[in-house]
Amino acid sequence: MTTHSEKGAGPDGLASALIEKGALTGDWLPAFHAVPRHLFVPDVIWPGRAGMNRQDDRVVRTEEPESWWRAVHRDAPITTQWDDWAYTGPGRGKIPSSSSSMPTMVFSMLDALDVQDGHRVLEVGTGTGWNAALLSARLGAGNVVTVEVDEASARDARARLEAAGYEPSTVVGDGAEGYADGAPYDRLIATASVGRVPREWIAQTRPGGLIVAPWGPEYGGEAVVRLTVAEDGTASGPFLGSSAFMRLRAQRTRLRHVREYLGGRAWPADGRRSVTGLSPESVGDWPVMFAIGVRVSGAFPWAEAYGDGSYTLWLRDTAVTSWATVDYVPSREEFEVRQSGPRSLWDEVAAAHRWWEEQGRPGFERFGLTVGPAGEQVWLDSPDHVVHSAAIG
Ligand SMILES: C[S@@+](CC[C@H](N)C(=O)[O-])C[C@H]1O[C@@H](n2cnc3c(N)ncnc32)[C@H](O)[C@@H]1O
Repeated sequence: MTTHSEKGAGPDGLASALIEKGALTGDWLPAFHAVPRHLFVPDVIWPGRAGMNRQDDRVVRTEEPESWWRAVHRDAPITTQWDDWAYTGPGRGKIPSSSSSMPTMVFSMLDALDVQDGHRVLEVGTGTGWNAALLSARLGAGNVVTVEVDEASARDARARLEAAGYEPSTVVGDGAEGYADGAPYDRLIATASVGRVPREWIAQTRPGGLIVAPWGPEYGGEAVVRLTVAEDGTASGPFLGSSAFMRLRAQRTRLRHVREYLGGRAWPADGRRSVTGLSPESVGDWPVMFAIGVRVSGAFPWAEAYGDGSYTLWLRDTAVTSWATVDYVPSREEFEVRQSGPRSLWDEVAAAHRWWEEQGRPGFERFGLTVGPAGEQVWLDSPDHVVHSAAIG
């Protein structure tokens, strides 16, 4: 219920902000009004900030109704769950595991989905249920199937959907498998990110249908891709723009502690020493991380900060065979490197960075993805310019 003191911020203000940004278009406006965001945001939230991987302190609706209302009507993501419910305290957990996505992102992805009357849609990642409600308002709940891996989230989302007057098919399950019983779909939208597009998604989408999903390499960097499914069981299309979703559970990387890489020895252990002129600062932005991740498979970065502006950039491989460190110190022009194991991870990252510069520092929109029975290919500018290829494991 809206109280007097909650006036000011509200659905109309959010709608205006989204229209101004070009995210909310006329064809989605009736759905936005039919199922406003506040009907789908839980009472306990951690408001996020647009474009930042950071959450504010917990806000409990019954204790701070005005803060809750304002947070709901900001164009920002809202964390609703940490660490698969392992953390429920008043502070913050380690990793957000469910959220109400940033409204700009919600409507940009819906716009990319290009739905038409009568289309059947599968959503992977029900979360709060807002996206499923918007799709239901636009297409009719009978045309919408939504899959959520977390039982409690699915149950709560179903209750909110029912209260709003919609009963799409809300399935508890692993969305990596799609939902074959409801196939074929005209459209599939994923609101959890993948590093490999599940074959089931392609098989369950009709030829000519679209898959809109956030895709990102293990290294970091992520963007929404729009794939068109072809008759031959392949799917291909461009990346549209930057995103930062939580990973599909089945595809999370299990990060091992630095100790496991050092094998019980103190750093720098057997690390080969060298010096680099490439600053770690040059490889940390989301688009360059994406380009590096496309070229450097099975590795991920982590920064160990020291509070005085200096930090160590750690690189580790997912096979737990190799590591590298680069020590960043502000105002220096050369940085000390240590590398250990069969892979020289910093050399790989530096080569990928060189390649990115040679290609004219491409942003997400110059990349595309093709997925077929044999695996995935990332391409630059056109599908025949493949810049990364991976077999499906
Ligand atoms: C960003 S939230 C989804 C936001 C949602 N679409 C909404 O409107 O609120 C991502 C959701 O994906 C779910 N998820 C993660 N892995 C999944 C999987 N394998 N299958 C289905 N859902 C999954 C998470 O539990 C989380 O609720």
